[in-house]
Amino acid sequence: MLVAVTREIPDVGLRLLRDFCEVVVWPDKLPPTTAQLIEFAHGADGLLSLLTEPINGPVLDQLPTIRVVSNFAVGYDNIDVASCTERGVAVCTTPDVLTDTTADFAFALLLATARRVVESAASVPLGGWRTWEPLGYLGKDVAGATLGIIGLGRIGAAVVRRAAGFNMRVLYSDDVVRSDAEQELGVERVDFETLIRLSDFVSLHVPLTPDTYHMIGRPQLQSMKSSAVLVNTSRGPVVDNDALADALVNGVIWGAALDVTDPEPLPSDHRLARLSNCIVTPHIASATEATRSKMSEMAAINLISVLSGKQPLRCLNTEVLSDV
Ligand code: GLV
Repeated sequence: MLVAVTREIPDVGLRLLRDFCEVVVWPDKLPPTTAQLIEFAHGADGLLSLLTEPINGPVLDQLPTIRVVSNFAVGYDNIDVASCTERGVAVCTTPDVLTDTTADFAFALLLATARRVVESAASVPLGGWRTWEPLGYLGKDVAGATLGIIGLGRIGAAVVRRAAGFNMRVLYSDDVVRSDAEQELGVERVDFETLIRLSDFVSLHVPLTPDTYHMIGRPQLQSMKSSAVLVNTSRGPVVDNDALADALVNGVIWGAALDVTDPEPLPSDHRLARLSNCIVTPHIASATEATRSKMSEMAAINLISVLSGKQPLRCLNTEVLSDV
C-alpha cells in the first residue's frame, strides 16, 4: 500500500505510517499545485493532506486509487466532502486535540490587540521608548468587558472558559439554544445583530461554509462599537477583508487580530498587514509542538484505520466506510 503525505509533518505520524506501508512525503515547504499533487499522489491508496490542498471531484478523478483523505486540520473547507462521498472516499479530520491550543491563541490575540502589545513592543528597537507616557499606547480593558462568541463549538466554548477568568460577560448567537453551555459557561444567547452591537470583543469560531462566507461584512462592521475589537481564528473568508481594512482605517472599529485571512498567505503589502491597529499572524493558532504532534498522530491513525478496515477516530462521511 502507498500513502502520500503532502508536507513534512511531526515525526510521530510519519513513523506510524511508515510502519504500516510505503510513504511518500512532498519535499517542499510550499504546497504542491493541483497538477503536482496529482502526479505526486499517483497510485496512492491514502492521502494525508493539509488545509492548503483543494481536494475535489476533478482531483479525485485523477487519483482513482485513493480511498481516504485524512486532513491534518479540524477545518475541512479545502475538501469537497460530497464529491469524496460520491466516490466512496473517506474524509477524516483532527478535532479535539487542538481545541485548547487554538483557544489560547485566540485569547492571546484578543489581549495583544486590546493592550497594543505588538505595536508598542515593535517601537522599542526603533528608539520609540523615550519616557513614561501618560497617554502612550492606551488600550482597552478586557476584564469585565463583553465578549461575543460567534460559533459556540469546541473552540468557542474553550475561549469562553478563558474569558471567565477575566470576568467577562459572554454572548453567543448560535441558531440552536445551548442550554448545556448556558449552564456550564454562563453564556447568554442573543440574536446575531444584538451580539454584534453589544460586544466589546467579537471572536469568530465558525467553519467556512456558504452560510458563513463574509458573515462579517460592511453592515456588521458598521453595527459594531467604534471601540470594538474583532478576532478571527476561524477561516479568512468569514470576514470581508476589504470591508475590514476600510473599517480599521476609518475608525469604524478600534482594532482587529487575524490569524486567518483571505487570501492566505496575506501579501506583505496588503493594507491589513500594514495597519497599526491590526495584528496579522500566519495561521498558527494550533502551532505548539505538542498539539501539532497530536494532530500528526491522529491524522495517521485515521488514515491507517480506514485502510485497514477499522473505525477511524474522526470521519466526516462514515457511510462510505463499509465500501472502503
Ligand atoms: C486549522 O486551521 C485547522 O483547521 O486545524
